[in-house]
Amino acid sequence: MRIWDTIAKKFATFVERKDFMKVVTTTDALRKARASLDGSVGFVPTMGALHAGHLSLIRRAAEENDCVVVSIFVNPTQFLEGEDLDAYPRREEADIAICDKAGVDVVFMPTIAQMYEADELAVSAPAKRGYILEGAKRPGHFDGMLQIVMKLLNLTKPTRAYFGKKDAQQLALVTQMVRTYFLDTQIVPCDIVRDEKGLALSSRNAYLNEEEKERALALSRALRLASERIVSGERNARRIEAVMYEVLEETDKIEYAVAVDRDFRAIEEIEIGNTILLVAAWVGKTRLIDNVWV
Ligand code: PAF
Repeated sequence: MRIWDTIAKKFATFVERKDFMKVVTTTDALRKARASLDGSVGFVPTMGALHAGHLSLIRRAAEENDCVVVSIFVNPTQFLEGEDLDAYPRREEADIAICDKAGVDVVFMPTIAQMYEADELAVSAPAKRGYILEGAKRPGHFDGMLQIVMKLLNLTKPTRAYFGKKDAQQLALVTQMVRTYFLDTQIVPCDIVRDEKGLALSSRNAYLNEEEKERALALSRALRLASERIVSGERNARRIEAVMYEVLEETDKIEYAVAVDRDFRAIEEIEIGNTILLVAAWVGKTRLIDNVWV
């Protein structure tokens, strides 16, 4: 039995352990818990190891809805062979406490067996937008991500679902999936949360040592410098990308530094209000992404 199944079994005993927050581990229990919620439901899907970025999504969901559901599931199908599935930080007890304190109504922590069957039919990322940038570097990642988000939205039936802009391509593809499949959920994009030095918060930051954390600041610095050039009047997308590449030399490996429009199409000129600058780079053994919406 995988370690995750053992942990989830352990937490099954927490089901309804509190008057005000239910922790459910099966799809049946989630359906029942969902049926008991009145009014609008805000949903925050996560892979756990919750940080201030997740908390800002949960708080916004609580502000804009009558009830909040959070899912915590490290989804195996969105990890590629050789990626960090086994090492991905898991802090279930702390996550439950954070949700409890934030006033979440239902936490869903399923096992893999609850979420997947053998020989499934699949949701696929679109052939173009799903296979550039993150999709090109991590082919298949978005198929797995969309597959699990589709399942979670169908189970949770939220009024609104909250996604961080940090995973900008994920956000675009989830928004497209909701449109394509006529799902009755509004996807709400939420601002990136950064630490005091500018590093975009991510569960994967837990892998960075102090020296790497300093070098990881190159990502936000690259975006800041590029944004400053745009504010000073530069509109040539290639020159803006060159600014970002130069700063990213401080990382161990640059994967991309691009300016695209909000539909992830290639652009020649920066158009204010319709551009995203995106960077991806490795610092040590950690792959980091960041972006800014111009
Ligand atoms: O952004 C994430 O944490 C994951 O991709 C998500 C949306 C929870 C799906 O597993």
